[in-house]
Amino acid sequence: MAKAPKTFSCTACGATFNKWSGRCDGCGEWNTIVEDTPLSAGPASKTLGGKRGSSIQLTDLSTEEAPPPRTHSGLGELDRVLGGGLVPSSAILVGGDPGIGKSTLLLQAAARFAQAGLKTIYVSGEEASAQVRMRAQRLGLSDAPVQLAAETNLRDILTTLEAERPQLAIIDSIQTMWADNVESAPGSVSQVRAAAHELTSFAKRKGISVILVGHVTKEGQIAGPRVVEHMVDTVLYFEGERGHQFRILRAVKNRFGPADEIGVFEMTGGGLAEVGNPSALFLSERGEPSPGSVVFSGIEGTRPVLVEFQALIAPSPHSQARRSVVGWDGGRLAMILAVLEARCGIPFAGLDVYLNVAGGMKVQEPAADLAVAAALLSAREDAALPADTVVFGEISLSGALRPVGQTENRLKEAQKLGFSTAIAPAGGKAKGENGLTLRQYGDLATFVGDVFGAG
Ligand code: TYD
Ligand code: MG
Repeated sequence: MAKAPKTFSCTACGATFNKWSGRCDGCGEWNTIVEDTPLSAGPASKTLGGKRGSSIQLTDLSTEEAPPPRTHSGLGELDRVLGGGLVPSSAILVGGDPGIGKSTLLLQAAARFAQAGLKTIYVSGEEASAQVRMRAQRLGLSDAPVQLAAETNLRDILTTLEAERPQLAIIDSIQTMWADNVESAPGSVSQVRAAAHELTSFAKRKGISVILVGHVTKEGQIAGPRVVEHMVDTVLYFEGERGHQFRILRAVKNRFGPADEIGVFEMTGGGLAEVGNPSALFLSERGEPSPGSVVFSGIEGTRPVLVEFQALIAPSPHSQARRSVVGWDGGRLAMILAVLEARCGIPFAGLDVYLNVAGGMKVQEPAADLAVAAALLSAREDAALPADTVVFGEISLSGALRPVGQTENRLKEAQKLGFSTAIAPAGGKAKGENGLTLRQYGDLATFVGDVFGAG
């Protein structure tokens, strides 16, 4: 057999070479290049000291696996986002801006899980025990059987968890943890990575569920380059506008349930309260029908949610007109403006465009395209859509309207909240619900001509 050529790689940056050198051309580090030793069996395994791996037991796909037993916190919004309760020995990351309410949520969750029978330890690296106790008192949770510690030394925390064997450990926050075997400051990427790795692997070995709190940095990432996300089973983001009382807990990754599920809470004087009917809440600030305001019937996770899009259009004093968007995708807005211009002959050049989702909600569905187009046109033409109308549908670059998923759920939710007309793409499985008139359009130009008499 021909001898395989030797390969070398840099332990610092991972660059590969076919000969050794003292300095890596990739990252400039010295003495980091080592010869690669293949792990495969056969003659090459001699390089591993002649050791052979042992063979692994293979199974087939039909092997029956009982679903994991879950513990319910009793906070329905939290349980749903977790995929139906807490799975034993799972690792969960809860990210969010500082001050958004993560500690409040997790103290409430700790109390509920403890009351549901889980042995629960809450470790705060940010606040003194007295501060946490004061918050618990304010939330009316002083009697909950949660054990509390204020500590940042990871070695001590792991030793304590080993001895106490809780079923749930909450670490608030991962950025304050300090592993003494890593030479860098707490909060640095290598500390956060090491602490998260130690905690999650320890938890898996010992059958403990861990919830790690992570602050989102200015760039919108947890502890820099998303170092923790791949280590955990579930990643939840806690979002909301500081000025609004709504808070949304969103699953962006979940090995034990659907991603994109949301839970809606309201920050009150007594902590976070669940919002059972988010549509009603998001529409609660809506006044008289006004130009630029359009209600979108959206789907968040497994639930329909109605939200209001608001657009404002004004002549631009600048040579470069402004496009400002909150709660939706800026690139998608540019696309809709381009389609309106190219396919319907409605120009937005020289006009500043502001688009906003009311209530601090973030919408990610392309199904909102038609609602956005309607809001933009309504603002531009200074013509309000009737207040009892909801809109949804995806717009393609050709100007055609595409049917979207879960049409029935969208219509049901609209009807439940007292809307009487829905504007939607033609085709799909849409049928008018009782008392709900369905107006369907095959392309954007027809919709524009019919609803706004323009185009
Ligand atoms: P906190 O949970 O400390 O945020 P984080 O851990 O994400 O940094 O909550 C911060 C805010 O929540 C704080 O500004 C006060 C507010 N808050 C209430 O409005 N009601 C309450 O009952 C509590 C405990 C906090
Ligand atoms: Mg906090």
